[in-house]
Amino acid sequence: MSVEDVAREKLGAIRARGTYRRMRVLDGAQAPRMRVDGRDVLLFAGSNSLDLARHPEVVEAAARAARDYGCAAGGSRLISGNLALHERLEEELAAFFGTPAALAFSTGYMANAGVIPALVGPEDAVVSDALVHASLIDGCRLARAAVHVFEHGDADSLDAVLRAATAAHRRVLVVLDGVYSMDGDLAPLRELVPVARRHDAMVLLDDAHGIGALGARGRGSAELLGVADGIDVLVGTLGKALGSFGAFVAGGVALRELLVNTARPFIFSCALAPPQVEAARAALRLVAREPWRRESLQANATRLRKRLAQAGISTAPSTTHIVPVRIGDNAMTMATCERLLERGFYAQGIRWPSVPEGTARLRVTPMATHTDSEIDAFADALCDEMASQTVLAEGLSTRAR
Ligand SMILES: Cc1ncc(COP(=O)(O)O)c(C=O)c1O
Repeated sequence: MSVEDVAREKLGAIRARGTYRRMRVLDGAQAPRMRVDGRDVLLFAGSNSLDLARHPEVVEAAARAARDYGCAAGGSRLISGNLALHERLEEELAAFFGTPAALAFSTGYMANAGVIPALVGPEDAVVSDALVHASLIDGCRLARAAVHVFEHGDADSLDAVLRAATAAHRRVLVVLDGVYSMDGDLAPLRELVPVARRHDAMVLLDDAHGIGALGARGRGSAELLGVADGIDVLVGTLGKALGSFGAFVAGGVALRELLVNTARPFIFSCALAPPQVEAARAALRLVAREPWRRESLQANATRLRKRLAQAGISTAPSTTHIVPVRIGDNAMTMATCERLLERGFYAQGIRWPSVPEGTARLRVTPMATHTDSEIDAFADALCDEMASQTVLAEGLSTRAR
């Protein structure tokens, strides 16, 4: 069988399951208004939530770095790729998050795939929230540690699972997301972290969506909930609110050293390119200097959730700038996404395996720089689509009877 035959056969199965995906083509810098698949739309599907990716200071920092240092680091960090710029970024990240040290990774996915196996192995256990990001799940697989899952956000379940895990294993690592990327709910860290501490487990928080967007100083979910001191390992990405690319692990000095020595995604991969590093540094300064961005982001998300609630549309359990609108059925979700695009709005439909089967949804992500009238226009269009969908669903169930 040729590779193309194998690929076609597998794609056939994906199509039959209703989960075939294609990539949309976007034009221009990511902004509230842009072109998607050749259409001018209002964007509600990006991760550049503070609108920093095209900020003049961020762009100028990247351009200057390209001029002064070139477009590549030119190697892995341990062989010729460790620039003074990387070390400076890491010092600034550590200062920003109040940790002794930080280490940059090429992506958040790689940070999670590196840090979990660095801390635990086959004799150990990971205790994971049921809904953590795929990169944490893959990090657990690479670690070959026993994985115990507790009920999403449930401190009693965490307590019970930890009791069993700590009795049976040498070391236990609890892994959590700060903001759950498909539901937009916050981990109840005030309840979960003390439970982990009581069992003497290590705590890893992946706050990819909280960094820059939440907390009085933009330090994320742990700052917002006042538990930063209880987090041993903070994973964050530079490619979402910080408007650049890459990621980091923030924690202790020995943790950083351990990662440099053992984290395979760090060791066997090219270092971040200078423009990405300098863009992230500029964005970090803007996050500190312009709190209005995260305030406006959360205000826009609150406005959107309220408008939808007034029309009877649930966005539960979201309390953040990730706003899910559950539809359930895969085909209906994708059809709604397409109709919204025709009306000039882009909010991506999300299906299994990104979310559990039967919980397909539109994942709506406002930006700090959407205006009230843009939020309202989107909410009106979505309410309209959801209402016609209800009529359609009612018609179908009447016919079925
Ligand atoms: C919770 C979470 N962790 C990690 C990642 C991966 O980050 P990156 O895009 O930098 O690989 C993402 C991004 O999709 C995420 O949502």
